[in-house]
Amino acid sequence: MKINKIKAIEILDSRGNPTLRTFVVLDDGTVASSSVPSGASTGSHEAVELRDQDPKRYHGLGVLKAVNNVNDIIAPKLVNLSLERLDELDRLMIDLDGTENKSRLGANAILSVSQAAVKAAALSQKIPIWQFINEYYFQVVKPSMPKMMFNVVNGGKHADWNFDIQEFIIIPQTNKSTDSVRIGSEIYHSIQKNLKEKKLSILVGDEGGFSPALNSNEEAFQLIIESAKQTGYGNEKDYKLGIDAAASEFFSENKYILKKDNKEITGEELIQYYLEIKDKYLVYSFEDVFQEDDWENWSKFFQQAPSLLIGDDLFCTNINRMKTGYEKKSANAVIIKPNQIGTVKETIDAIKLAKEYGWATAVSHRSGETEDSFLADLAYGAGVDFIKTGSISRSERLAKYNRLIEIENGL
Ligand code: PGA
Ligand code: ZN
Repeated sequence: MKINKIKAIEILDSRGNPTLRTFVVLDDGTVASSSVPSGASTGSHEAVELRDQDPKRYHGLGVLKAVNNVNDIIAPKLVNLSLERLDELDRLMIDLDGTENKSRLGANAILSVSQAAVKAAALSQKIPIWQFINEYYFQVVKPSMPKMMFNVVNGGKHADWNFDIQEFIIIPQTNKSTDSVRIGSEIYHSIQKNLKEKKLSILVGDEGGFSPALNSNEEAFQLIIESAKQTGYGNEKDYKLGIDAAASEFFSENKYILKKDNKEITGEELIQYYLEIKDKYLVYSFEDVFQEDDWENWSKFFQQAPSLLIGDDLFCTNINRMKTGYEKKSANAVIIKPNQIGTVKETIDAIKLAKEYGWATAVSHRSGETEDSFLADLAYGAGVDFIKTGSISRSERLAKYNRLIEIENGL
């Protein structure tokens, strides 16, 4: 099982922006490809997504430099490498890049090769990708179906006009993917019906959640809880509520600026606000509720014991930041986004470290996605607790949930 050829091309993501798809061809004839996603509310500690910055192409967002880096720099080094040594492949690319944050070759370039190589290895062995991931990287961990996190109402940078909070999330309380998508879909369509009745917009944001002109965050919770109730589902019993505040996006000069309420508040006041919604709407999961370097407020809030406190931009799937968070007691869960760190190997290391810490793990998409369903296999094969790949609409989101249904059906 040796690599014969690697070829990257420029394709478009769900926002119509360029991204990479890379093909890996093995000497036994196996061909596999993988595409990489792109964030909007990106963390400043993420690995670098290389863009051409050429204003004459795609408003500067082209990825031809990254494509050329795969084809001209990475490919010649990896051709003839045996896939029995996948770890080495990632290590070689990290060394070839030579920077802390993959800014020379681009994390988008490197990850597209890394993921495609894992897929090729699985395909060549004629086993599902999740099984390959499980056997190659984990051994002792059992594959398991994650709970799904559907962000049914979108705000922040993903809708860009209404809520300061970026995502309002429902988490069906089942590990059976067919039941989970059914609960999600029924609640989603009940929300849609209620919005129509109120003559509010049913247009969706980047991640497939509704983005209506409600008057407050509270109204979003009420809408979700009421819509779920009408479908026979109870908060906490059948589903739990979560938010991803993406708070770095509304933090400036040591203040949190809530446009909707037209006020600037301190971290301490924001903690009080979160505690209020925790009590009032039984919010269970809190993601990125403070700015990505505001360790102090993360730790303060953690002491007040929210059930699930998840670091996304806070950790950036980076084990060094996770170590800091563990020492400071900042969170008890981590978002896992392969493109925040740039290789499958480093992504797996972050999952393993989280498990060692006893943290919950949530494999997550980006707001700019593709039809690639690699994340579903990763989530199941790594036995993570949650998967978060958007709402119940838009096929780039559903590709991941549908893949989990396939896996549940033994496919
Ligand atoms: P992003 O948002 O992909 O735009 O960063 C997703 C998230 O914050 O979870
Ligand atoms: Zn997030």
